[in-house]
Amino acid sequence: MTTTLANSDLDAAYADAAERFVAANPKSRAIQEQAEKAMPGGNTRTVLHYHPFPLRFARGEGCYLWDADGHQLVDFLGEYTAGLYGHSDPLIRDAIKQAADDGWVLGGPNLLEARLAQAVVDRFPALERVRFTNSGTEANMMAVAAARAFTGRDRVMAFRGAYHGGLLYFAGSPLNAPFDYVMADYNDAEGAAALIREQGDRLACVLVEPMCGSGGCIPGTEAFLEALRGATEATGALLIFDEVMTSRLSPEGLHGLLGIRPDLVSLGKYLGGGLSFGAFGGRADILDRFDPRRPDAWPHAGTFNNNVFTMSAGLAGLTHLYTPERAVMLNAAGDSLRGRMNDAIARRGLPMIVTGRGSMMAVHPGATAPVSPPEAGKRPRKLVDLMHLDLIAAGIYTARRGMSVLSLPMGAAEFDRYIAGFEEFLDARRPVIERAGEAVR
Ligand SMILES: Cc1ncc(COP(=O)(O)O)c(C=O)c1O
Repeated sequence: MTTTLANSDLDAAYADAAERFVAANPKSRAIQEQAEKAMPGGNTRTVLHYHPFPLRFARGEGCYLWDADGHQLVDFLGEYTAGLYGHSDPLIRDAIKQAADDGWVLGGPNLLEARLAQAVVDRFPALERVRFTNSGTEANMMAVAAARAFTGRDRVMAFRGAYHGGLLYFAGSPLNAPFDYVMADYNDAEGAAALIREQGDRLACVLVEPMCGSGGCIPGTEAFLEALRGATEATGALLIFDEVMTSRLSPEGLHGLLGIRPDLVSLGKYLGGGLSFGAFGGRADILDRFDPRRPDAWPHAGTFNNNVFTMSAGLAGLTHLYTPERAVMLNAAGDSLRGRMNDAIARRGLPMIVTGRGSMMAVHPGATAPVSPPEAGKRPRKLVDLMHLDLIAAGIYTARRGMSVLSLPMGAAEFDRYIAGFEEFLDARRPVIERAGEAVR
């Protein structure tokens, strides 16, 4: 990247970056075109699509990726938090290999699932019992369904712009699960508590991420989360924390760190060691309704809920790799990186901000931190798109939406490389960053 690029106008700067991206990635482009023949838009996972076309990855090792055209990139996307252990940790590989050696699709409870369940229950304070699923979406669907059955009420409260899975976008998706729902604004403690009280005995549950991950790494304030806890307790609605992403933010998850006890918690991502995973758990009196020995037991099926690969990799990861000490260290490294990014912005006097917590962070145009996903979404997103392409050109892979996530194999060299790429972006794109920041005011 050079400072001679078309930098005064965001559209021109983006078009220029996209042209360079296309020229640098002929093989990814050819595979994309091939993929379009059998897959809509060449895609099977919406979030992985971006303009001009996504890089296609050939392999990964540690915290590095190699794309189809042979470029090496540091992986700061971290599979949207599921890639905590990197791409090739020997302990995870051994756990998968051990499971393969012992055979799979056993068609019965195996020797691993209760051990992973115990490790999860020991780790996260709000979980007295846990059940496994195959994805975070499924975990949330089960948690919400359980809350509705437990309370005998229909309605679900969620927050505008929050993401809880492919069928749980709520407003804004024609494919949402057909739950009766009501929406509130994230971080509006009074408004949300008032709405919960107003809904009274119609409301089954409140589904909330204690920090919006996909929505822009926007932490929920303690006042907001406490208000949800207080109001749901008062009306008998259940409080569900979606910790699919955030459980990595402390040894005890984010609810443990904040000292708030939700009734149910959904989990996912890295807890399966990098394989398909989801889980939901919480109060024993709710979860025990799934006890199949009860004559009125709630059903919860799933052929692969206890698949040996996930159970084995998840157990190895949680008990040997993401120990409480390493959880603290990784999140401290994330706080430090976010601090360095905000310092780099401040030194240049630019209107940009990096929000987040621990090992998850996101860059936003504008000098002030957005407090809700819709507020973040209103800012000039094209600047974040431009940053994404510029960072790729510098060998740094992040999420298109400006999110970066740390993984355990990363060290000082990767953090320094990231900061160098980020500072290069700030310097090269100063005029468009300034202009985008003015639009936020
Ligand atoms: C907060 C949150 N909940 C649920 C999900 C859905 O998980 P999965 O993609 O495993 O279905 C995600 C995925 O990104 C998420 O970020």
